[in-house]
Formats: sequence, C-alpha cells, structure tokens
Amino acid sequence: MRISVFGMGYVGATTSACLAKEGHSIIGVDPDENKRSQISAGQSPIVEEGLDDLIADGVRQGRIVMTDDYTQAVAETEMSLICVGTPSRRNGSLRTDFLEKVAREIGEAIRKKGSRHSVVVRSTVLPGTTEGLVRPILEEATGGVPFGLSMNPEFLREGVSIYDFYNPPFTVIGTDSKDEFERVKLVYEGLPGEMIHCAVPTAEAMKYGCNIFHAIKITFANEMGMLCKRLGVDSGEVMDILCRDTKLNISARYMKPGFAFGGSCLPKDLRGYTYKAREMDVPLPMFEGILASNRTQIERVADRVLETKQKKVGMLGIAFKEGTDDLRESPLVTLAEILIGKGIDMRVFDPNVHYASLYGSNKEFIDRELPHLKKILVGGEEVLQHANLIIAGHKAAPYEGLIPLLEERHQVLDLTGLLRDVPTRASVDGLYW
Ligand SMILES: NC(=O)c1ccc[n+]([C@@H]2O[C@H](COP(=O)([O-])OP(=O)(O)OC[C@H]3O[C@@H](n4cnc5c(N)ncnc54)[C@H](O)[C@@H]3O)[C@@H](O)[C@H]2O)c1
Repeated sequence: MRISVFGMGYVGATTSACLAKEGHSIIGVDPDENKRSQISAGQSPIVEEGLDDLIADGVRQGRIVMTDDYTQAVAETEMSLICVGTPSRRNGSLRTDFLEKVAREIGEAIRKKGSRHSVVVRSTVLPGTTEGLVRPILEEATGGVPFGLSMNPEFLREGVSIYDFYNPPFTVIGTDSKDEFERVKLVYEGLPGEMIHCAVPTAEAMKYGCNIFHAIKITFANEMGMLCKRLGVDSGEVMDILCRDTKLNISARYMKPGFAFGGSCLPKDLRGYTYKAREMDVPLPMFEGILASNRTQIERVADRVLETKQKKVGMLGIAFKEGTDDLRESPLVTLAEILIGKGIDMRVFDPNVHYASLYGSNKEFIDRELPHLKKILVGGEEVLQHANLIIAGHKAAPYEGLIPLLEERHQVLDLTGLLRDVPTRASVDGLYW
C-alpha cells in the first residue's frame, strides 16, 4: 500500500521503517526539519535498536520518502496514519492541538485530492476523541470528499519496538465500517496476532486500559517487594511463585467490571498487610487506596438507589459472592445497611443465605450480627411483588429464573450483568456495562 505517516517520532519512525520493510511505500511527514533530513539521509531520528538499518534500507529502496508537503503526502497515498504526540498539560489533561492541526491539514489535502482517503488515528487519545474531535474537523476540511476513519492503537515499547512490531499481542482496529476495517487490516497483512474489530471508543479506551494495567502491575510488584524486603522475605521468589498461578493470578479472572469485592479474606488481608507496612514505616499508597476505592463502589450504588426516590427496593443476592452463604464483609450487606439506614423498605432474595439463616452453620452469625437482615429475607417472587426498584447483585440460576416475572414497572440496577443481552419488560440500568 501507499501510506503517509504524520509524525516521525518513536511511533511514526518505527512504524514507517517496519511497514517499508514489509513492502509498503511510505511518505513521512513531520514539521521538524532535522528529523526529515536525518531520515532522508537513512538515519534513525531516535535511539532504537535496529532502526538505523531498517530506515537506511527503506530509503535506499525508495520505500521511505520524507516531505513537509501535506497535499503531496495525501495525494500520493491511499491512507494516512496519524502518529503525532498527545502529551499531558501540567494539570494532567491531554493536549490534542497537534492532533487537531494534523487532522485539519490532512482534511484539506483530501479535499484537494478529490477522492476517497483513509485516515487512521494511531496516537493515544481519550475515548470520544476520534469521533468527537477528529471526525468533525475532517468533515469540515474535506468539504464532502469521502473519507474513512478508524482508531488503531499502538502497543510498541521503546527499546524493543521492532520486535514488538513483528510480535504484536493483537491488532485492534476501531471503526464503525466493515470496509474500513478490511482496508486497515491490509496494512498488517502477514503479521501474527489476532485482528480485532471493535467500536472506535473501545479501541481508544483499551489502550488506556493496557497502559494503566501495566502501571498497576509494576506498582503492585514494587509495593509487595517493599514490605517483603523489610520482613526479610525474598520478594523475587514471592512474585515468581505468584505468577505461576495462571488460573487466578495471571489470567482473565477478576477482570470483568462489576461491583465491589468482599468476603472473609480480601479485605482482611489487605488491612493486615497495609497495617504491618504502616507499623514498619513502609508507605504502600496503592494498597492503601484499594479499600477506599472498593468502598466508593458501594457508596456509588447507594447514591444511585437514593437518587431514584424509590422507597420499596429489592435485592437479588446478598452473600459476598454467588454460590456461598457467607455474609462476612459482603459489600451487598453494607449496601443494604446503608439503604435501610436511609429509610428504604428492603426485601432480599438469596436462597443460599435463606437456607443458612434457618439451618446452616451461619445461622448463629446471622442471628447475632444481622438480625435486621433476617427479617427481610424473603422468596424471589415476594421481592418482585414488593419492589419497584431491584438491585441485581448476583448472576446465577435462581435469579435468572425471575427474569420472565419482571414487569414494566420494575427498574433494575444491574451490578453483575444478569440482564445484559436478555430481553425484559423492566427498564435496566447496567452500572458496569
Ligand atoms: N512512544 C511510545 O512508546 C508510544 C507507544 C504507543 C503509543 N504512543 C502514542 O503515540 C503518539 C506518538 O508518540 P511518540 O512517542 O511517537 O511521540 P513523539 O513526540 O516522539 O513524536 C511526535 C512527532 O509528531 C510530530 N508532529 C507534531 N505535529 C505534527 C504535524 N502537524 N504533522 C506531522 N507531524 C507532527 C513531531 O514533530 C514529532 O516528531 C502519542 O499519542 C503516544 O502517546 C507512544
């Protein structure tokens, strides 16, 4: 393909060199004259292993050409990749001025070209930017000449970016057009990894998710390591063994959005570890923040319920998770207690807890600690009769069985995805989906 690349920094230069090696013809555009002349002379503008050779080969074979002429770059290519910087302002907000400028220039060049052109945003941008900022600029500047628009996040890591180009985890292409997806896919033909077609904001958001997740992983290892070191424990060995659990630890488990955690272990052990760290003057701000964040999830749902002004509320599930009768530190118990305290008339259906309250080993705990909850534990149908607002706290067969009984008058706050993709007469508000 003939591709113009706007912005010859870390992303643009590496992508251009690798695409040229794969047989594409690249026209690189950058306002920085030094970068243009360096690349034209067959040198890499950045320190990156192997990039000098790749750029030299590309330039020698005539597959990489540099220009500052936007009109020519667009006229002589079928697709433009936007790789300009999107740095932070001092207050943390994202600067989009380079992006806006380049979008306007590409749009005007498309108008002059007079025929269809594809524009691909590769810079990291916040969800909504491509459709809400880039598209209107392009629409205005192109003056009606058709263009395709997609968002294709970049995952390379500096230092190993050529290796990453040839070994991507996947390629994500966000676009609302199947044709555009097929066109952008051709850029990466022959490379390994799954090709994922998704909505534009999904592609934008998942890039942030990846980087934040990486930051969390590093901080997690560091905070584990800091206290281990003080306790004389080999943190490298701890993390090595931890990573060998690919069922719960290094896996997709616990990676679906949906309400707070609880139970007898997670909150207790977080408190125990962070207390010990405080005692030893080891600051662990990320670990300290986890329980506060978890509490925020519960309060957010409570606020949402109170905002509806409904006084008769039902809850499906109250144990700390599905498939257990354990109520210890259940976030749903905390939620119910907040709501009862605010004068809400609650009814709760949880068959496991109901059984436990009558016969199980938890009977004594419930009688002693939660007598107020025992009074409001009822059957599923009774919850639906009583309540106008229903909080779906669990996703399991007994609750799925109630879905056909939901009526138009029911409003459901769905914390777990119980009603995701399920037809119902009730109005459903998915809090995490
Ligand atoms: N560096 C990375 O490892 C990496 C990885 C993935 C994603 N990203 C994202 O990719 C984007 C680019 O990052 P980078 O590190 O390559 O940035 P960079 O600052 O190294 O390069 C940006 C280039 O864009 C050029 N530019 C500015 N305005 C221009 C315009 N109007 N037309 C053409 N070129 C213009 C600049 O001169 C510069 O050479 C950012 O959004 C970044 O967040 C970076």
